[in-house]
Amino acid sequence: MRVQFKMLIALLAVTTIGVFLTASYSGWIELKMPSSCRCEKCFSEEDVFLNQHLNRSIEPFLSATTKLTEDEYNWWRHLQRNRHNFNYFKATLDKLFKIISPTPVLEKSKTEGCRTCAVVGNSVNLKGSRYGPLIDFQDIVIRINQGPTKGFEEDVGSRTTHRVMYPESGSVLDNSTHLVMFIFKIRDLEWLLGSFLTGTSGKPVNPRANKDLVMVLNPAFMKYVHQKWLGKKGKYPSTGFMTLISALHICDEVHAFGFGADSNGSWSHYWQPMKSKKFKTGNHPGKQEYAAIDKLANENTIYFYKGN
Ligand SMILES: *[C@@H]1O[C@H](CO)[C@@H](O)[C@H](O)[C@H]1NC(C)=O
Ligand SMILES: *[C@@H]1O[C@H](CO)[C@@H](O)[C@H](O)[C@H]1NC(C)=O
Ligand SMILES: *[C@@H]1O[C@H](CO)[C@@H](O)[C@H](O)[C@H]1NC(C)=O
Repeated sequence: MRVQFKMLIALLAVTTIGVFLTASYSGWIELKMPSSCRCEKCFSEEDVFLNQHLNRSIEPFLSATTKLTEDEYNWWRHLQRNRHNFNYFKATLDKLFKIISPTPVLEKSKTEGCRTCAVVGNSVNLKGSRYGPLIDFQDIVIRINQGPTKGFEEDVGSRTTHRVMYPESGSVLDNSTHLVMFIFKIRDLEWLLGSFLTGTSGKPVNPRANKDLVMVLNPAFMKYVHQKWLGKKGKYPSTGFMTLISALHICDEVHAFGFGADSNGSWSHYWQPMKSKKFKTGNHPGKQEYAAIDKLANENTIYFYKGN
């Protein structure tokens, strides 16, 4: 009995020292993954590229208490034509957070401490891949813009827990799907707010999703992905890339599908007829993005499925 008690004290002491030591290396603890990860393979110090780029202190999604700086706001403001000032932006956000959940909500995972996520891009390489069951198996299934499931279930699955959208994509989500709003201009926020405003009937006029499941990408997160992950290449990162990096922040295990070209070099979407092989990424630094994804895949930080 006494021996056991002594051992317990000793253990407690070691733990305390451990906590103390970790806390004193503050630069390092920021980059460390949450120790709560219980997956078979968790992110670790071996994920060199990840640790060089990931900064856990940047929140991917806004909450009512997020402290955005004016610098961050100004970086974001110049992505597209935005005339409104910082105060107007903050006031609009305040109104929005009176309606939507003040903090982004994430469901519990099937396995405690191991939240697995499928990030499903829209590449034609999904065609004939039969990844459907593997995608549906993950706790969180994130799809991007229009990316349909109906008629493509075998290859892309049928569950959607999160859908990344901007107003132009125009879809209406079912009651259990998170709307993940990527905002590029104030009008996007106004659009979101407007869709939840109640008319004379007391019901939202034009709801696009369950208001309790709305998440809004943090402009500071966009800036961080652009600067830290892409070395400021291009004007701003693509939606797909930002989605993937946000998954590294909110998931313990990331499975990426539908990124890149197919084996013939086509960059079409999986639901569209083949387009030319010419690849244009517009504002987005496609090359850097695929190099980064390749690095994450090669170091086995993410599970990367190349499809056909
Ligand atoms: C992480 O981000 C925070 C907030 O922007 C910043 O203060 C900190 O220096 C960053 N850490 C690293 C290692 O870049
Ligand atoms: C949608 O879900 C919310 C709870 O998040 C519930 O209050 C509401 O009644 C649901 N609406 C429909 C149409 O099922
Ligand atoms: C690549 O092109 C060849 C010839 O057009 C075609 O037979 C094949 O199915 C294509 N592969 C994919 C993955 O689309």
